[in-house]
Amino acid sequence: QDQPRLVAVSNRLPVSLVREGDQWTVRPGSGGLVTALAPVLRNRGGLWIGWCGATEGAEIEALMGPASREAGYSLHPVTLTADEVRDFYYGFSNEIIWPLFHDLQVRCNFQPRYWHAYQEANRKFAAVAADFSRPSDFIWVHDYHLMQMARALKAMGIQRRTGFFLHIPFPPLDIFLKLPWRAEILSGLLEYDLIGFQTQRDRRNFLSCVHHLMPQLRVRGRGGVVRLAVGEREVRVGAFPISIDFDEFARGAGSQEVADCAWFLHERFPERQVILGVDRLDYTKGIPERLFAFRNALERFPDLHERVNLVLVVVPSREEAPEYRALKAEIDRLVGEVNGRFTRSGWVPIHYYYRSLSRTELLAYYRLSEIALVTPLKDGMNLVCKEYCACKLEEDGVLILSEFAGAVSQLHRDALLVNPYDMEGVANAIHQAFRMDTDERRQRMHRLRAAIRRRDIYWWVNTFLRAALAKDLADFPPV
Ligand code: UDP
Ligand code: G6P
Repeated sequence: QDQPRLVAVSNRLPVSLVREGDQWTVRPGSGGLVTALAPVLRNRGGLWIGWCGATEGAEIEALMGPASREAGYSLHPVTLTADEVRDFYYGFSNEIIWPLFHDLQVRCNFQPRYWHAYQEANRKFAAVAADFSRPSDFIWVHDYHLMQMARALKAMGIQRRTGFFLHIPFPPLDIFLKLPWRAEILSGLLEYDLIGFQTQRDRRNFLSCVHHLMPQLRVRGRGGVVRLAVGEREVRVGAFPISIDFDEFARGAGSQEVADCAWFLHERFPERQVILGVDRLDYTKGIPERLFAFRNALERFPDLHERVNLVLVVVPSREEAPEYRALKAEIDRLVGEVNGRFTRSGWVPIHYYYRSLSRTELLAYYRLSEIALVTPLKDGMNLVCKEYCACKLEEDGVLILSEFAGAVSQLHRDALLVNPYDMEGVANAIHQAFRMDTDERRQRMHRLRAAIRRRDIYWWVNTFLRAALAKDLADFPPV
């Protein structure tokens, strides 16, 4: 077989171990990376190396056996100490790279201690990858937590074919330059054989940083994947918009269980259009801004009163971080304020969940909602909007999408595009979606679904691996 075995490495495994009293339970992970990668590993087999969310070692290996059997591929846990979780995960990854790469540099906390912990943790992941991989494997590293892992592998004398995919945006030059460790991060990324980004804009930003900080490097080729000559090596750089297992979502949405659940939930919204928001708790998702826009819509368009409901699903995330706790308090307050002001007997405008939904509930909400309101301030791709479309089997939904989500590069024609900072603009789009006639809804949703189906998660994995392994890139089509 000419396809090598896949060794996926990410900070998180698709499952997390959570301690409840003196018992450990295995929970599915949340977030787009897990949603996207899980079907790839299920389909192709291989290994997945990552952190299991726990800091103690003893029972972890024992719990991973059954979890691996259930997943259908092997899970190899990396154990992090409490200090590593604080300085590598919450610190460097979530207080520096996450805000900086989402253009929010004022939120960064550039602690030098975090940088040391980051390199140390990257060495730890590399050591596990070295132990469990063979020379013929392809090691595919994911996301911003592990930008130094290829360098760490080489420092250990381990030669493997490697690829890296960044699930979040890559910032423009003037923002990237603020990073005290910009040169190390950039040269660390260039230790991979292929570097993949979500969009052409991210790739362009990366190449302009390379051009500025390493002007001696030449870019060769054009089209979907270009090459950088780094010493004797060739580093490939491309854009590969990530996606979902479209057919699996559509099949799930069509199941009897989801239909029953959707019917049951819809009973609570008689004669009303449901506007749906689903996000991890995160300041990049623009949740308060969305609530301001919804409030503005209710103020300016009385015809929405008693005719729409906003279902706001916020999935708990990074709950130890003070910024996330403050955000949760702000959302709670805003939901209370809007409901307090507009509720009438028999109509509560916002239905608010602060928990993760079961898959059946999530698909049922996708199916029954007339409008999806996806308004991140900045997002690498955003899979929720693709999942929503995949589940609109009757093609009768409207997608309102932020201009700053990576998904806009593929869905700009048929979504209603909004600037999430423009409260009145978003309110207008809500009103436009509410009034849109059925024909227009169907035409737009039909094209959105076709675009997502054509480039689903299997297209993504095949394209990335082809770019990594092809001998010759001469006729690699533009992505
Ligand atoms: N999701 C989840 N639990 C829920 C609701 C949603 O895990 O209760 C999933 C959702 O289906 C989607 C992912 O979380 O696949 C969010 O991915 P997205 O790319 O939109 O944003 P991210 O969280 O990765 O920033
Ligand atoms: C985003 C990131 C992932 C991350 C996920 C959940 O999708 O791209 O790398 O796993 O958010 O965040 P968490 O910090 O809980 O892993």
